[in-house]
Amino acid sequence: MELFRRLFGKTAAVPFVNIHCHSLAAVDDGAASETVMEQMLRRAYEDGIRFLCFTPHFHPPYFQTDPARIACSFEKAQKFAEAELPGLRLFLGNEIFCRQNTAEQLHAGRCRTLNGGSHVLVEFAPSEEFSTMQSDLLELCNAGFRPVLAHVERYRALYHEERAAQLHRSLIFLQGNCRVLAGPRCEEKAFLKKLIRSGTLDIVADDCHNLGTEQPGLSAGYDAICRQFEEDEAERLFYRNPLMVLTDGVLPPQNTGRRIPIYGNRSRWEDYNHKEEENIKKIYTI
Ligand SMILES: [Fe+2]
Repeated sequence: MELFRRLFGKTAAVPFVNIHCHSLAAVDDGAASETVMEQMLRRAYEDGIRFLCFTPHFHPPYFQTDPARIACSFEKAQKFAEAELPGLRLFLGNEIFCRQNTAEQLHAGRCRTLNGGSHVLVEFAPSEEFSTMQSDLLELCNAGFRPVLAHVERYRALYHEERAAQLHRSLIFLQGNCRVLAGPRCEEKAFLKKLIRSGTLDIVADDCHNLGTEQPGLSAGYDAICRQFEEDEAERLFYRNPLMVLTDGVLPPQNTGRRIPIYGNRSRWEDYNHKEEENIKKIYTI
């Protein structure tokens, strides 16, 4: 990882991977225009993000942007990145408001998985009941998808007992929002830290929507984690796990030495390490 330190010259030893953002122009409640999109991409880049997945909301009837319009906006973002932000890799997905028919919507091509793989970023209403969340998520798993639950700190139903751990054990990946981790002390931040201590949080993303209160960036959260936990934990949350989700690999071993069931097979992790190195070589021509 020394290479990345030299390449990026930041506190982080790795390039950041952001799997949840709304910086694609004019497709949801995120970037309002192409200019704002470009400014948001530039800010993400300056913060050290090198792998970025746009995840426009898919929440009919409120957000159901024509896939052709999303593809057109994505093409513009790619052209801008190629010209201005060397080494930034862009991907496409959706943040899907989870319902019983989500698997059908995915199979019908009305919404997207992350980078066309098996992982799906999903959200619920903050007040949703645990039983509904659990059954809808497991239904997605049974349909062959791997759900990634967005901004896990929003769901008060998960604050009780070991419910978050229960989802985690069912191979549902839990994503926390960076600005909560980097922000002032609050109940949501305490919940995320509890999940990190128990090895239950999988990914941190910025869920940026604009250049103001919900702006792009992961470095503040990375630094906050490094101050309170091992740097390896920060690398797991901001780099290894999100990169694995984008490349459809398997979860690496936990820093606690425990392994995730099913994916926790040593040979598969070694295989993934190998694939990851190949990916990175392709991107950075090491
Ligand atoms: Fe979001």
